[in-house]
Amino acid sequence: MISFKQIIAQKIAKSVNLDENEIENYIEIPPNTDMGDYSFPCFKLAKTLKKSPQDIANDIKEKIELDENISEVKIIGGYLNFFVNKAVLVKSVLQEINQKQEKYGDSNIGNGKNIVIDYSHPNIAKPFHIGHLRSTVIGQALYNTYEFLGYNVKGLNYLGDYGTQFGKMIEGYKRWGNEYDIEKEPINQMMEIYVRINELCKEDENVLEECRNNFKKLEDGDAYCVELWKKFRDLSLKEFQKIYEILGGRFDSWDGEAYIAPKVPEILKILEQTGKLQISEGAKIIDLEEQKMPPCMIEKSNGSSTYAARDLAAIKYRAEEYDYDKSIYITSYEQNLHFKQVFETAKLLGLDEKYTNGLEHVSFGMVLLPTGKMSTREGNVVKLENLLNESVQRALEIIEEKNQNLEDKEDIAQKVGIGAVIFNDLSSGRIKDEIFDWDKILNFQGETGPYIQYIYVRTNSVIEKAGYVPTLEEVDFNLLTDKESLKVISNLYEFGNVLKSVVEKNEPSILARYLINLSQSYSNFYNENKIITEDKALTDSRLFLTKAVGTVLKTGCGLLGIKMPNKM
Ligand code: ARG
Repeated sequence: MISFKQIIAQKIAKSVNLDENEIENYIEIPPNTDMGDYSFPCFKLAKTLKKSPQDIANDIKEKIELDENISEVKIIGGYLNFFVNKAVLVKSVLQEINQKQEKYGDSNIGNGKNIVIDYSHPNIAKPFHIGHLRSTVIGQALYNTYEFLGYNVKGLNYLGDYGTQFGKMIEGYKRWGNEYDIEKEPINQMMEIYVRINELCKEDENVLEECRNNFKKLEDGDAYCVELWKKFRDLSLKEFQKIYEILGGRFDSWDGEAYIAPKVPEILKILEQTGKLQISEGAKIIDLEEQKMPPCMIEKSNGSSTYAARDLAAIKYRAEEYDYDKSIYITSYEQNLHFKQVFETAKLLGLDEKYTNGLEHVSFGMVLLPTGKMSTREGNVVKLENLLNESVQRALEIIEEKNQNLEDKEDIAQKVGIGAVIFNDLSSGRIKDEIFDWDKILNFQGETGPYIQYIYVRTNSVIEKAGYVPTLEEVDFNLLTDKESLKVISNLYEFGNVLKSVVEKNEPSILARYLINLSQSYSNFYNENKIITEDKALTDSRLFLTKAVGTVLKTGCGLLGIKMPNKM
């Protein structure tokens, strides 16, 4: 597709004899289209050229030749503003969408690059909570978008399946296993056993000792302990799988902390050789005072490995196994310090710099109930499956109210209810805390998933009403240069760039916001312009644009993990 930015950069670069790429990076989009389609802030060159922005603007303007792509150049303040030829823009966008269809916006910028995404990562024998949901949804959206841009992506579900708590679980099950039906209600029942054994441990030091022994035996491969651990893990996974089926999780590896734990001794050896491993109150630590952080604990005083040590071992393993260019971890910001410490300590592992530079913690805010934070510890647990089901149920009620005679109401409610939860998780910047409010997330008129789905359905019904989709040859590009049509077109034009920003910043909300904007632009277009008219050429042009909007909304939502209903 034509790149106006590049064309403008070329023209400016030629006139001032500077590097085209540098110029292109400076080019901005003005706050409103009356000022121009692109804008070059001349003050960026003031130092290099030793001239005032105003003089630079005048000089460049004089030298620039207009052509069929750029129709006007204007100076506003120290800015040079460019107007593109609208018919060229319209033609270029619609041709590209026509040719690429649901692949419109894809790219090969990622070819040859490996990305690993560590996400979702729930803990065995514990509830899959709303933080894991957010990680799953963000990770999934990034996975899809990276892949769409040509990257080779691996999704890693680094399960929390290791730790001293399994010694306790084994002890509890040994004592009271026959009292619980862990096959039927795995997580709840295992949680109950865990709470009960913890209480007993507090009362009786000997029981605690037994638990420690169990954990030791588990590590040494004792058949009974391993068998029980496997059972807990399989049953938990079966329950998590239900959630992944609803949300559409994609994982290339399920290797969790237990898989990595045996690789920790090697890490200890490497760290010892650096001379930086210190003993502090019986524990082994890496001092990070210079980096103004508390020390990174590698081994506890009782000799067991730490979460950080396992993450270090995982980094080395992933570097070797996946030869990653970027390795992304998606967790709440509660783990900010952990990852800072681990990434800093990873520099001591003797890995190629490529691997330590490629580490990135992509953190997100808390999900708050109107009553406060949702967490396991505080007992304010909302079981995720219930939450997803409730959303579908609420969506069904709304649909029944609005459109009683709809066919496949259940299927539609599924797409709307789940889409609403996913969109809510992605629509605000990920670092923000988010308040979970049913009325907001399911508002069909708000900035929500259901709103985008609703606009998509409208594009479908317009086409259905017309009874045909025109071909590109039937479109007169000059008929789509009114303000509302152009707004839609320029939104469509930006799609590919939006996707690139999503992966640059690991921020799916950029795409979510974009889809809202596109939906709103289309809604304005629809309100201002009658689509099916007496004028065949006009009808064809507007129908074609309608179809294009539908295609891009569907692709964009698909990347976020949101499915589109055909009716609603
Ligand atoms: N299982 C952990 C939790 O629920 C998150 C794991 C994050 N990934 C990692 N490599 N540490 O908090």
